[in-house]
Amino acid sequence: MTQSDIDRQWWKEAVVYQIYPRSFNDTDGSGVGDIQGIIERVEYLDDLGVDVVWLNPIYESPGADNGYDISSYRSIDEQFGTMADWEELLAKLHERDIKLIMDLVVNHTSDEHIWFEESRKSTDNEYRDYYIWREGRQVDGEGGPHGPSGEAPPNNWESFFGGPAWSYDEQTGEWYLHIFDSKQPDLNWENTEVREEIYDMMEWWLEKGIDGFRMDVINLLSKPDGLPDSEDEDALVVGADHFMNGPRIHDYLSEMHEEVIEPYDAMTVGEMANVDAEQARAYSADGMSMAFTFDHLRLDFGPNGRWSHGTFELPELKRAMSYWQEGLGDEGWNAVFLGNHDEPRILSRFGNDGVYRAESAKLLATLLMTLQGTPYIFQGDELGMTNYPFESLDEVRDVDTLKNVRIAREEGRFADETEMLDVVRRRSRDNARTPMQWSDEEYAGFTDGEPWIPVNPNYEKVNVEAERENRDSVWNYYRRLVDLHHESDLLVYGDYDLYLPEHGELWVYTRTLGDEQALVALNVSDTSTTFEPPDVVAGADAELLAANYTVDADAVETTDLQPWEARVYKLN
Ligand code: NOJ
Repeated sequence: MTQSDIDRQWWKEAVVYQIYPRSFNDTDGSGVGDIQGIIERVEYLDDLGVDVVWLNPIYESPGADNGYDISSYRSIDEQFGTMADWEELLAKLHERDIKLIMDLVVNHTSDEHIWFEESRKSTDNEYRDYYIWREGRQVDGEGGPHGPSGEAPPNNWESFFGGPAWSYDEQTGEWYLHIFDSKQPDLNWENTEVREEIYDMMEWWLEKGIDGFRMDVINLLSKPDGLPDSEDEDALVVGADHFMNGPRIHDYLSEMHEEVIEPYDAMTVGEMANVDAEQARAYSADGMSMAFTFDHLRLDFGPNGRWSHGTFELPELKRAMSYWQEGLGDEGWNAVFLGNHDEPRILSRFGNDGVYRAESAKLLATLLMTLQGTPYIFQGDELGMTNYPFESLDEVRDVDTLKNVRIAREEGRFADETEMLDVVRRRSRDNARTPMQWSDEEYAGFTDGEPWIPVNPNYEKVNVEAERENRDSVWNYYRRLVDLHHESDLLVYGDYDLYLPEHGELWVYTRTLGDEQALVALNVSDTSTTFEPPDVVAGADAELLAANYTVDADAVETTDLQPWEARVYKLN
């Protein structure tokens, strides 16, 4: 890639900040974050230097899955504020040149959405076909565990949150599909009216001035004809081979792009589990700006999948991420992220959240800001927030954790309660959902009331106020690296080349754009490690662009890297 080959897009040059509104900042003492709370912190976002905010759902919702169960797409849930508050937020962000992308959750609605309330009334209701209804299967002798005697669900698909992906509805004696919770029935995308309703709704938000969408589980929309059983009974989620990347998914997404996205030059980021680079390039051809992919977030799954703990070595992580760095070429674009509201804290998972908390948090910041793609910062990662030390399930709020843990317990998959808690501490989505730590005041300055989920006890040390005061803090490092990313076409558009792929501690790569080159050297370990500069360094005049330890500016030939040391050089 050279300067003249660059296909410039605003969203390629942006740094995105993800806000989980429920846990960001509460202004009314309810214990739940709100829109006014975000408005209060727009200046904070500007100081950090981010260009785009991705807001997790704030639409009207019964809250079975913290807003991913929407009961009205065009209303703001009152716990977060009003539409006027939201409009004020958009205006305040735009005043500071920060764009806003909203979460688009259209694989499913809430069962309390009027469409579903109608749909379940009768088999000939005009909304019946908005959802996926089927008769159960007759099984001789034994009844399906969740339906009336003698009936099993229509197929063997499972829900991500555990148990069958179907629930029986007494009113009409049929079953409806829900790949997530039973309160999240799947929409029927085969139905043209459904698609038109969704496109109208998207257009309505775009007309209000938003800049794009983060698209929830977007590669799940198309289900195959006949809804066949999955033959892969050992899959992480049985049925995923059928409902992920289904037969008509590209028709739907290209139609959506043409009808609503393209006219607004909007940014789209699709959440896409189970795709390879070839599939991602095909989604990009549909018009998807970029995709969240998950290979790197599965490496620590244990023998029982997500709800057991496994270990991985650095070469595997490099392989997983380098695959995407190298695999999209000019036909796609990466979303670079290490965590979000569904994952444990990045520092606890990929760094060392004890002795090397600050060093490793800065190393992860370096990685995010120097890999090829659009970087995403999840709220609190810029402070070095860590997983929560759960002592009991009473502290857990998340439907996914609670349901899956209950099932795993029933099936005897935990040796004992200690193992169960260990898995929750490492894995639960609630690790990322504890309140943002603003100060060392009570409840970390997040709320004057009782927070909806406990605050991490390390807030007295790890908080925005303390971080901003300290020149060498994780926060100030993030801010500098965000600036560096902005200043550099090389870091945004340059090609990625990996060195020493099998090295167990070092992650070394270059970024190259025409005759410009940068070198990134990361020691992803607790021990000092010898750094063998690749050949490209020989004879180059190296300028230090960033480092998380104090190093001589021209120390590129220095061969020792301290624990979790990160350096970025420009090679001239
Ligand atoms: C992915 C979202 O990020 C997650 O929080 C949610 O539970 C599921 N999709 C279902 O919408």
